[in-house]
Amino acid sequence: MEALRIIKDEHRNLWRIATTVDLVADEIEAGSKIDPQFFTSVFDYIEQFIDRSHHPKEDDFLFRILRTRSAEAAAILDRLQTEHRNGPENLTRLREQLKSAAGGELNNAAFAAALRTYTQGLKSHVGAEEKEVIPLAREMLNAADWAEIDGAFLNNEDPLFGEKAKAEFRELFHRIVSLAPESVGLGAHSTGRLQPSAAPNKAEVVLSVSGMESCYGRIKALKGISLEVRRGETVALVGANGAGKTTFLRTLSGVQPMSAGSIRFYGEDIGALRSDMRMRRGICQSPEGRQVFGPLSIEDNLRLGAYTQPKSQVESDLDMVFSMFPILKEKRRLPAGTLSGGQQQMLAISRALMGRPKMLLLDEPSMGLAPLLVEEVFNVVKTLKAQGMTIFLVEQNAFAALAIADRGYVLETGTITLTGTGQELISNEQVRAAYLGM
Ligand SMILES: Nc1ncnc2c1ncn2[C@@H]1O[C@H](COP(=O)(O)OP(=O)(O)OP(=O)(O)O)[C@@H](O)[C@H]1O
Ligand SMILES: [Mg+2]
Repeated sequence: MEALRIIKDEHRNLWRIATTVDLVADEIEAGSKIDPQFFTSVFDYIEQFIDRSHHPKEDDFLFRILRTRSAEAAAILDRLQTEHRNGPENLTRLREQLKSAAGGELNNAAFAAALRTYTQGLKSHVGAEEKEVIPLAREMLNAADWAEIDGAFLNNEDPLFGEKAKAEFRELFHRIVSLAPESVGLGAHSTGRLQPSAAPNKAEVVLSVSGMESCYGRIKALKGISLEVRRGETVALVGANGAGKTTFLRTLSGVQPMSAGSIRFYGEDIGALRSDMRMRRGICQSPEGRQVFGPLSIEDNLRLGAYTQPKSQVESDLDMVFSMFPILKEKRRLPAGTLSGGQQQMLAISRALMGRPKMLLLDEPSMGLAPLLVEEVFNVVKTLKAQGMTIFLVEQNAFAALAIADRGYVLETGTITLTGTGQELISNEQVRAAYLGM
């Protein structure tokens, strides 16, 4: 039932966008200026992703097969498919209303009302699929049906929803987050690009940790951790509060003493190296709680991230992160403390990137962020992964982390209790009960 996981993921995104549009509608009604670029990015996303990929995928596979298995499904599917068909027309009308509103022919209140009518429609559509269609599908479809549906949904070559299309959708989503007002998104005026590229090579072991122990006084926080990360992999470490995730990252980067065990990075034993020497080897961390240097300017924060790097490459690396997050460029002379939470998170990740990581460590990057930004953080991680970056991701948001991870480890009070591919762990009963609340 992979297809259902994908559909539910896409619903979550759609819901986040609808909620964001509602919040922006409130602001418009309260007198904010209408930003045509932001709305165009939203409408483009819905048109290209929802109307051209999400709905047809449902129609052609899930709905078509469900019709043959359940007479009861016909009525609800008829209604939903009519809504699918009307999608493009509703969107065209909304684009026209945007034009009138931007031109002053339609007042803000009327435009806000049109937006809300539209998002209401989206939400009730998603709600009906979640509450009626998905449960029915779970009940009525057999293994062969799921094999056919899942096969189609997981077809990475498909021009409409394969890997290449997904990278484009991530780019479109990134544009929305970049253009959304600061209260809900990053709040830039120019959009950035995530620029996905080369496929990773998964052969070589980059990091090999064996028997790692670490203590706070007499309390052993890590009780013999062994794990491995390969080049180009995204590996997630998930676990409850206080399990020792941050302690593991701190011990790995050398700011917390290791009392037993070994760490090999690209074959070299680095367990005795100072933290700055590990950073020079390419272990760069975006710390828990972001920890940007508040009084320093954004640009100086970024330059600090590059202090182990040759000067000659710093300017071009700055350009690289500025092209991803134009808001950081716009505000580069301001103190980092003036940034919103989401902007600070992007700064913390960018600062780590300035160190040219051979392995990027991320400690709870989605913590405390607005829903649209949570999605964006994972989009950024996916893009870095697509560029071939090796990533070690620690998250309390276990579902989102495991969903993008190649492999994962479950940590419980200082001990690794489970390991497997991201998908295996997501479907593991124990993990679902303990971390996914299912
Ligand atoms: N500075 C410290 N002094 C003493 N004990 C600490 C210290 N930092 C963490 N601990 C303890 O070590 C254990 C692991 O903490 P750690 O912060 O690594 O967990 P975590 O998995 O990152 O949790 P969270 O999800 O809350 O970030 C916990 O029992 C915690 O109370
Ligand atoms: Mg932590």
